[in-house]
Amino acid sequence: MDLYEFGDNEIFVTKIGLGMAALGRPGYINLGHDAHLGEDKSVEAMQNHANTVLDFAWQKGIRYFDTARSYGKGEQFLGDWMLSNQIHEPEINVGSKWGYTYTADWRVQVDDGEKHEVKEHSLAVLDRQLVESQDALPGHLDLYQIHSATLESGVLDNQPVLERLAELRNDGMLIGLSVSGPQQADVIQKAIAININGSRLFDSVQATWNLLEQSAGAALQAASNAGLGVIIKEAVANGRLTPSNNDPKFMSKMLKLQSAAKQHGVGVDAIALAAVIAQPFVDITLSGAAQMGHLASNIEALSVEWQADPLEIFAEFAESAADYWSHRSGLSWN
Ligand SMILES: NC(=O)c1ccc[n+]([C@@H]2O[C@H](COP(=O)([O-])OP(=O)(O)OC[C@H]3O[C@@H](n4cnc5c(N)ncnc54)[C@H](OP(=O)(O)O)[C@@H]3O)[C@@H](O)[C@H]2O)c1
Repeated sequence: MDLYEFGDNEIFVTKIGLGMAALGRPGYINLGHDAHLGEDKSVEAMQNHANTVLDFAWQKGIRYFDTARSYGKGEQFLGDWMLSNQIHEPEINVGSKWGYTYTADWRVQVDDGEKHEVKEHSLAVLDRQLVESQDALPGHLDLYQIHSATLESGVLDNQPVLERLAELRNDGMLIGLSVSGPQQADVIQKAIAININGSRLFDSVQATWNLLEQSAGAALQAASNAGLGVIIKEAVANGRLTPSNNDPKFMSKMLKLQSAAKQHGVGVDAIALAAVIAQPFVDITLSGAAQMGHLASNIEALSVEWQADPLEIFAEFAESAADYWSHRSGLSWN
């Protein structure tokens, strides 16, 4: 895979990155996660499985990896794999996130009243998780992102947190944020404008953009124009834009995806990813595949050459942000 500059950040990344959300813990919200991972979800089995997928990603040329403190053992699995394979900078770039604490304790389901992960965007959590991330990813924490910054979380108005992030940036770490929910665009616009001591704070933004949820497009273009690196997550809408989606209400859209897939000689997931990669504001598109076969199919997106604008071909796919995120919040942990 070729390398491209990540925004104006002077690091070079591949167009496809691998996300560790489904590889680092036994429970996640993606469609079919439980069934796809198989019976044995012990830490040892999951680490062996993650190693196999990471090896495959590396062989295929992927050089950007995304993880977070809350992805179970996602940081540790990635860190151990880099160490045992003697993979060093600058041949790889790793982004992680702080702000959610993993509380599921390696369970697929948690009890009523409990949570899989607990969100807190305070200075105390930043300072604690920074040390934990650096321990798990020694020498590899290139980009540290606020995990799911929202207007309500107040983190973009929290001066002590912003000043601490600016210190880390001055010490050479890239600083980013990830966003989720129907107000992604507003959060991105607010983040682009934040300056600390005369310098822009954020080097990158990670957001959800796919054929069903396009509401952040203009804000992401503005971020890219301002020099931020742009990372896209949930490019196949947590599995809704893959063969795993057999919802009868989605049938006509699936048939259209299948027709394009046949025309380009790839899978429907590759068509969905290729539509993301084609957007001018996108630097990295994350694959969230936990299965090697799915990752291989996702990577085929790079072979798609559009004869027409995918946004026109799939014009009827876009949902309102409210509908998309209401569907997303209905996905169950499995
Ligand atoms: N707030 C945040 O910062 C945030 C939130 C969400 C995600 N992320 C990042 O973005 C990454 C990707 O997001 P995501 O995993 O949530 O969503 P996603 O990439 O839209 O969806 C991944 C799902 O699609 C399935 N899939 C892919 N190709 C397939 C195929 N050919 N056939 C059947 N199923 C297929 C995968 O199945 P298998 O698992 O079985 O392969 C997985 O269940 C994450 O790993 C994480 O790094 C960040």
